[in-house]
Amino acid sequence: DLNLKGKDLLTLADYSKETILELINKAKTMKEAHLKGDIITPLKGKTLGMIFEKSSTRTRVSFEAGMLQLGGHALYLNSRDLQIGRGETISDTAKVLSQYVDAIMIRTFSHNIVEELAEHATIPIINGLTDLYHPCQALADLLTLLEVKGTLQGLKLAYIGDGNNVAHSLLIACSKVGIDISIATPKNYEVDAKVAELASAFAKASGSKIILTNNPVEAVQQADAIYSDVWTSMGQEEENEQRLKDFQGFQINTELVKHAKADYIFLHCLPAHREEEVTTEIIDGGHSYVFQQAGNRLHAQKALLVEILK
Ligand code: CP
Ligand code: NVA
Repeated sequence: DLNLKGKDLLTLADYSKETILELINKAKTMKEAHLKGDIITPLKGKTLGMIFEKSSTRTRVSFEAGMLQLGGHALYLNSRDLQIGRGETISDTAKVLSQYVDAIMIRTFSHNIVEELAEHATIPIINGLTDLYHPCQALADLLTLLEVKGTLQGLKLAYIGDGNNVAHSLLIACSKVGIDISIATPKNYEVDAKVAELASAFAKASGSKIILTNNPVEAVQQADAIYSDVWTSMGQEEENEQRLKDFQGFQINTELVKHAKADYIFLHCLPAHREEEVTTEIIDGGHSYVFQQAGNRLHAQKALLVEILK
């Protein structure tokens, strides 16, 4: 038993290796059941509140459809329409919503907001992306690696791009479960030092090897998976022009992937900017699993929801 009932998911740093692996395995089983057409409704009568302060396609729809498939209900709450948008505090919101819904998924800017919500809520809080972490994405990424490669043992993942939320959650997830991870970022776009420190402690325990570099070619050497994300994340739109310059040389293209294993797979959390962080040829090519990966958000999150809510 996972013993996740009532627990938050703010970052995978709070979950053990065993818990993460078991969640992935449950997600795999649930996916198979779903594809067979089985209807399993352990969350009858349960409601998930979903607060969004940023745009979303995958997170919003996969959580909402997932809750419905499990027999429950999801409420889309745009923060602009909540009283939060007019200055009601996070702690007051947490205390009120805790009495109406069974869990809250939130997508916001500062990670502190999610921590504050969790501190004052009496129900589980799920991080649907902050500026620091994107744990639900990393769960789906592990599921995809397991499906395509057949095992997580002995894999090497190379992340090329911004040292952002997605990079941080990958770094935590890989170091927890024992996947080697190399991250290449431009100078001044490195991963958060505290996250790197956490990951290095996890890697010691799991035996995973971490490489942080400014050299994409070095990072992709012998990689089983190459991962990228947008160069300009939500909330950074003003930096777009500067970032386009600073990220030159960090595009995933046919030249770069030559350094990976011959059977490497390409992953991307999406949405993608074709011809910026990745060429159309690569993202729409035979090595790309980005749509299977996006689909897996549904199954990974359903496993999570069942474990924390059932
Ligand atoms: N990958 C991801 O979280 O996508 P959305 O922004 O569409 O939710
Ligand atoms: N790094 C991106 C991920 C979107 C899913 C962002 O924060 O906008």
